[in-house]
Amino acid sequence: MSFMYEFKNVFGTDVKTVWKRFYKGCMVFKAMMEGKDTASVKMPVRLQIEVTDRCNFDCIMCNRGARDTINRTLNSDINKDDFLPIAETINPFYITLNGLGEPLLNKEIGAIIAVCRERNITTNMPCNLSLAKVLNTQIVQCPPNIITFSVHGASKEVFNTISRNAQFDACMAALRDFMAHRNKKQTEVRILCALQAKNLLEYKNMYALLKDLNLLDDFYLLPVYDYGFDADESRRIIPTDEEKETAIEQIEKDISLCTDEKEKLFYFRWKTTIGQIKQNSAAIEKKSGKPCLIPWYSTYIAANGNVMPCCYLTDEYYVMGNVLQQSFDQIWNNSQYRNFRKMLRENRKDLHGCNYCYMDDSSRIKKYGFLFRNISMWKS
Ligand SMILES: C[S@@+](CC[C@H](N)C(=O)[O-])C[C@H]1O[C@@H](n2cnc3c(N)ncnc32)[C@H](O)[C@@H]1O
Ligand code: SF4
Ligand code: SF4
Repeated sequence: MSFMYEFKNVFGTDVKTVWKRFYKGCMVFKAMMEGKDTASVKMPVRLQIEVTDRCNFDCIMCNRGARDTINRTLNSDINKDDFLPIAETINPFYITLNGLGEPLLNKEIGAIIAVCRERNITTNMPCNLSLAKVLNTQIVQCPPNIITFSVHGASKEVFNTISRNAQFDACMAALRDFMAHRNKKQTEVRILCALQAKNLLEYKNMYALLKDLNLLDDFYLLPVYDYGFDADESRRIIPTDEEKETAIEQIEKDISLCTDEKEKLFYFRWKTTIGQIKQNSAAIEKKSGKPCLIPWYSTYIAANGNVMPCCYLTDEYYVMGNVLQQSFDQIWNNSQYRNFRKMLRENRKDLHGCNYCYMDDSSRIKKYGFLFRNISMWKS
């Protein structure tokens, strides 16, 4: 994507919007660097909103059923009439339309994306390829700027083993249909795969699928995140050391036989990512002393309206307020949010969820902090 494409996505196209966003961006950035308990009154530049917490799949690595507190009903939707005032109040540059649910199940998803398009808000929507009808009518007509399809296996067996309740053939047909009819200027398609025990050896199939769909450059391979649930063998997501070694050996053999440079690189990336899969306790070294700037520029809203500082805290230990009961501008700098930012800045090690999170914004603060060194509360 070109610089102009990215610029228009973030700042819009008309002079008034560009100026307003530039001003908001500067204010939010200043507040991030200052690190005070109160964030910019201009509110966040980014929003992640769980348009539904319902799902029709049961992926073995997903944590949607494991929320610790408050809401375990998982049957809420954000409808267009709820969404509109939220989008107008926050007026972010960027919205991610998902949380712990499947966005295609929201009956008003097309209308929600249209609200964002009308306001020049860039959208990214991960989804699971179910509901071909919604995808290839509503979504293809008014797509998000980025649509990320979750594909954890490129063969029927592996796909259906990881995404329980999924129909591989129907999902692939929906994907091909979408690729054939999407407007390339309107939407960028990405494929995301969480690498885990059950798809370690899926690299050849995945390469073939992506090549066929011309999506090799739009593939995101991530090591599975281990939430540490007890699971039987059929739901085990962390490979044994032996499984990893065997897979790596096989990939190395295939790399040595391969003549295509792009294919070699793909296999190499797969091999490297296997090395990044870690068991829960070893997954993330403590980043307790490190800064995280997310609660100064971004926010997360669950399908029941609860506001949380970020998408890693969806167990709802830290609920800042509820946008279905009060306006977001009353929540963004309320006492809960201010206390949370203070704790995060001064005592991250005692914040459940943040203490083991990988986020570390030290380099950003180091890079730009000198501009704010007399007023910043971040220790440099
Ligand atoms: C929680 S899902 C919600 C959106 C949609 N239902 C989907 O699956 O695309 C968002 C993304 O997180 C990924 N995901 C879920 N659990 C994960 C885990 N334990 N590790 C890594 N990625 C995971 C999903 O595959 C998906 O790409
Ligand atoms: S489709 Fe998405 S939300 Fe549903 S179980 Fe799978 S990863 Fe979780
Ligand atoms: S430290 Fe991690 S969990 Fe805590 S606010 Fe930052 S990104 Fe979220």
